[in-house]
Amino acid sequence: MFATMGALGLAPTAQAAEQPFRALSTSDFTLTGRGAAKVVIVGGGIAGLTAAYELGKAGYDCTVLEARDRTGGRNFTVRGGDTTTDLYGNTQTARFADGHYMNAGPARIPQWMVTLDYCRELGVPIEVFTNVNADAYLYNESAGMTKPMRYRTAKADVYGYVSELLAKATDKGALDQELTADDQERLVEFLKDWGELGDTLAYEGGERRGYTTVPAAAGTPGVLLGDVPSASDVFASGVGRYFSFEFGFDQAMLMFQPVGGMDQIPKALTRAVGAHRVRTGAAVTKITDTGSGVTVTYTQGGRRKAVDADYCIAALPPNILAKIPHNLGSGVQSALEAITPSSAAKIGLEYRSRWWELDHRIYGGITETDQDITHIWHPSYGFHGERGILIGYYNYGGDADTYAKLSPRQREARAVAAGVKIYGEKYRSELVSSFSHHWRQTPHLEAAWHNTPGGPDDTRYQPLNEPAGRVSFAGDWLSYTDAWQHGAFTSARKAVTALHARVLAS
Ligand code: PHE
Repeated sequence: MFATMGALGLAPTAQAAEQPFRALSTSDFTLTGRGAAKVVIVGGGIAGLTAAYELGKAGYDCTVLEARDRTGGRNFTVRGGDTTTDLYGNTQTARFADGHYMNAGPARIPQWMVTLDYCRELGVPIEVFTNVNADAYLYNESAGMTKPMRYRTAKADVYGYVSELLAKATDKGALDQELTADDQERLVEFLKDWGELGDTLAYEGGERRGYTTVPAAAGTPGVLLGDVPSASDVFASGVGRYFSFEFGFDQAMLMFQPVGGMDQIPKALTRAVGAHRVRTGAAVTKITDTGSGVTVTYTQGGRRKAVDADYCIAALPPNILAKIPHNLGSGVQSALEAITPSSAAKIGLEYRSRWWELDHRIYGGITETDQDITHIWHPSYGFHGERGILIGYYNYGGDADTYAKLSPRQREARAVAAGVKIYGEKYRSELVSSFSHHWRQTPHLEAAWHNTPGGPDDTRYQPLNEPAGRVSFAGDWLSYTDAWQHGAFTSARKAVTALHARVLAS
């Protein structure tokens, strides 16, 4: 029977990880005559909710314990009226207008990730998230730039000069050892096209850089952006460092977001699991494997409570799990402690007008800078509306920690000062409210994502990749796509597949 289950993808075989996920079903039990089991799931983030959702398909009796007052974990969409208190004691209430939101955590979904499959299955509508925009800005203050440059202009100049230099080097015979004469000719042909080079193989600028007056009706041919910088100036500006981002497997366009906020995903999952199975405000205090089951104790509303179940899936971040008493062994504990938390933060800046669309003609996409705000995101929804929310910083590591130590007002002032250098005074004068969120300082999470040296399959994490008695583990941090919901979804699928096989075989 075990071999048959292996063929069905229900038993852990060597190839199990390569097999497509097969959703569990109550009919899986008809051969064995056994029924589903009771499972307590610790953590109501994407991994925990998905575990409950998938187990529910086969009739498992699941209870989800979530310490925060909402499900979703790091999938957190901030709207007007939402209140948070960080670990430094800063309390903020968002004052965003109706219909406007910021995704403080996950905010973009590549097409290849299973996150989109869950959106389809759960009926969560999606729309395009603009990750790259030719009209967004690049601004490297430390390189001495005095004004921002459009992406398209930077690309024209960098590609132009790189092409010119390589074409000229080829022409001088510098690649004679590497390429045949025919291949050199093809290379130069490509470079002339790629870099918009003239007949002398020189880059002289052109319409790819953009216009000061755009072409229009007869009589208005347009006026090209002047002042083509020298190759030396282009390389000194460092703008080329931003281009490879969009080549990444994770970050290439098109990308997507749920309509109305990323938390439409955990909201739909919570509905599908059944709100009566999800206990919020329930902070777990101990996980005990009793040999014949699992007891999880927690506090809720100041009272001590417990859930007894046949199995447990622990779907908390490793840094939080490591602080919860358990009897799962020192191997589990040292594996959890080997994974370290990382910082990231965002501030939402709400404006009374969409001046970035009106004055700058930027509709979505990301402005990049070497200032400590790192990224400015233009909203990918609500185009041409009355107001809108920019992400005024999305930064990581030390930059996120620096801002975390400031008061929310100071964070806003510092972020706005950086933005004014790029966009001018409206960045300050049109502002109506702001809300900042720092994951390392968020109770019950204390991390934006995690660093797992050696990758999730390294032997030091072996105790987390297999069940510890009746407890198994799930989370994006146990995947090759840490810091993506895809990692949480696929890790939860792996955990429920293994648990189901075990229940069928028991
Ligand atoms: N998924 C997050 C994001 O897209 C964090 C991340 C950034 C993960 C870059 C990998 C690479 O912003």
